[in-house]
Amino acid sequence: MDIVVSGIRPTGCLHLGNYFGAVKNFLKMQDENNCYFFIADYHSLTTHPNPVDLHGNVKQVLAEYIACGLDYEKSTIYLQSNLQETCELYLFLNMNAYIGELERCTSFKEKIRKHPDNINAGLFTYPVLMAADILIHRANKVPVGKDQEQHLEMARTFANRFNRIYKSDFFPEPLAYNFGQQLVKIPGLDGTGKMGKSEGAGNAVFLSDSPEEIRKKLMKAVTDSGPTIPNQEKPESIQNLFTLLNVMSSEDTVKYFEDKYNDCTIRYGDLKKQLAEDIINYTNPIREKIKDVYENNELIKKIVNTGTEKAKQSAMENIKQVREIIGFRNF
Ligand code: TRP
Repeated sequence: MDIVVSGIRPTGCLHLGNYFGAVKNFLKMQDENNCYFFIADYHSLTTHPNPVDLHGNVKQVLAEYIACGLDYEKSTIYLQSNLQETCELYLFLNMNAYIGELERCTSFKEKIRKHPDNINAGLFTYPVLMAADILIHRANKVPVGKDQEQHLEMARTFANRFNRIYKSDFFPEPLAYNFGQQLVKIPGLDGTGKMGKSEGAGNAVFLSDSPEEIRKKLMKAVTDSGPTIPNQEKPESIQNLFTLLNVMSSEDTVKYFEDKYNDCTIRYGDLKKQLAEDIINYTNPIREKIKDVYENNELIKKIVNTGTEKAKQSAMENIKQVREIIGFRNF
């Protein structure tokens, strides 16, 4: 069985794109592997969140993933900040992480371009902390999107370097988790590209959006002036709405609007209204579940405590061996 580690940013607010992407993958993954899921709250300190926001965001993210089906009986769910062993490994790995390779990291270069007033050492060593998250459990698989591939590559570099320096084979090489089947990419509402949080307000439908918010967002979704030639090809903004319709609505509904499009009698307002109602039907129970979990402090506490205990066992055992390997030995 593979040991899988995945860090979740505590930025809250899963949208439909996340739901049909990362979340679906996590649910499948937890059935087949020994999974460690943690909220990357140490990492989030690079942007100096205020303590109340930090705590609230961590809780919201936990509530969302738990409501979506992340299961603490199948997986180990914990907070990064509850596993101090990670910090110790981070320190060890920092000794063998070179300034040059950290400077070349794309995400670092991007961050310093966007936030030149906050180039802190934590940001600089972000990939080292991420490697520590992974290696602390001697994980061999990590689910990563495109934006995290380089970080994972660096984790491999640090693992291999450690092994070489200490002539050991303690750390496995963490590889990208391969999901096999390709998931549907959920498009956004702004007419181009996929659904994303950073693409501007209104582009993403969040799982905790109220029905009114969902209706409002759908009404503002980008369309064109409508087809003029029967069976003409759909421009991207329209194809995007049909892709959403395919995921959220019944076959009959899809067929109804396809036909209307093809004979040029479609009214986008009708399509948007229908799509909004179908999305609301789909997300309503999830939204209620998120609220229930969020308000159930006892449940969250139980889940995090159980996860922390399991994560500690693995981390303590591994860090003990790392200390031995490095030469920190008891008299
Ligand atoms: N860097 C990841 C992100 O921004 C989060 C993360 C931190 C992570 N530590 C990790 C992911 C370890 C996988 C494994 O999404």
